[in-house]
Amino acid sequence: MAEETLEATARALVAPGKGILAADESTGTIEKRLKSIEVESTEENRRAYREMLFTTAGLGDHISGVILYDETIRQSTKDGAPFTKVLVDAGVIPGIKVDMGAKPLAGAEGEKVTEGLDGLRERLMEYRDLGAKFTKWRAVIDIGKDRPSAYCIHVNAHALARYAALSQEAGLVPIVEPEVLMDGPHPLERCYEVTEATLEGVFNELFSQRVVYERMLLKPNMVISGNECSEQAGPEQVADATIRCFRSVVPAAVPGIVFLSGGQSDEQATANLNAINAGGPHPWQLSFSYGRALQAPSLKAWRGDEANVRAGQDALAHRARLNGAARDGRYTPEMEKELAAA
Ligand code: 13P
Repeated sequence: MAEETLEATARALVAPGKGILAADESTGTIEKRLKSIEVESTEENRRAYREMLFTTAGLGDHISGVILYDETIRQSTKDGAPFTKVLVDAGVIPGIKVDMGAKPLAGAEGEKVTEGLDGLRERLMEYRDLGAKFTKWRAVIDIGKDRPSAYCIHVNAHALARYAALSQEAGLVPIVEPEVLMDGPHPLERCYEVTEATLEGVFNELFSQRVVYERMLLKPNMVISGNECSEQAGPEQVADATIRCFRSVVPAAVPGIVFLSGGQSDEQATANLNAINAGGPHPWQLSFSYGRALQAPSLKAWRGDEANVRAGQDALAHRARLNGAARDGRYTPEMEKELAAA
């Protein structure tokens, strides 16, 4: 049973017009997000924020799955409905971040390796019992002078593959996330080179460790200019470089690629995804798994005030709708105005 279910879940997560909402910020990261709207990061405020997101009317229209965090998968609405049930009732598949964060890599100044493999088999079983159908593990690759090292790419790829194999064993679809960061003054070509080397390392390890491509999704960065680069590539250039890079290293058996937003503005992340899909058809479904690019306007509209719940939900629904269109190459910048008109 598990094999067919895994393939069906992977395909459902990249269904036409839909993508993933990443709401799996660790306690440290959500604290930063809440601080930006001057809300204290208490367990209750974190819960209330996630309740606002997950109870958005029509969430399942353009959101196929939500990635939760360990604290969040155990939480409920104020009326006592578990978040996992709220999501399933809305036609949304619950998933869970299972890595324990990126830590300094020994002997490699400025580089990181993601931890969390010890005891993972047992944690996966618990998450499966709590209702998760898919998982996520994020590795972080930084671009700098002499970075990334082959050593850093190798250990992160190895850990990603160990995680993915364990996840499939547990009957959960792994979302493999090797994120090449956009921080720095490097041009798009350097991002291309590093992304290609990283993905090549990751797929070598996935193959060696017997991960079944049909039962996983890839969550990468797009190939873009560094955020301090003086010449910023536009959507057509980003789309062209991203597709060229992925065609050379991502097996066609992988059902879908769900991009992270990684610090791009909401509108930039949507426009780039649209350009990528407009140039199709491609061997894989190309969709989104955005955190900041879906949540930022919603967070700002909500500001921790119960009276703003509806405004926060409208902002999330709006971005989900636009990214749902971009995911099929149907987005136009004029659609940005629709919220104001609604
Ligand atoms: P961003 O879209 O904000 O990069 O978040 C996606 C994610 O899940 C990072 O791990």
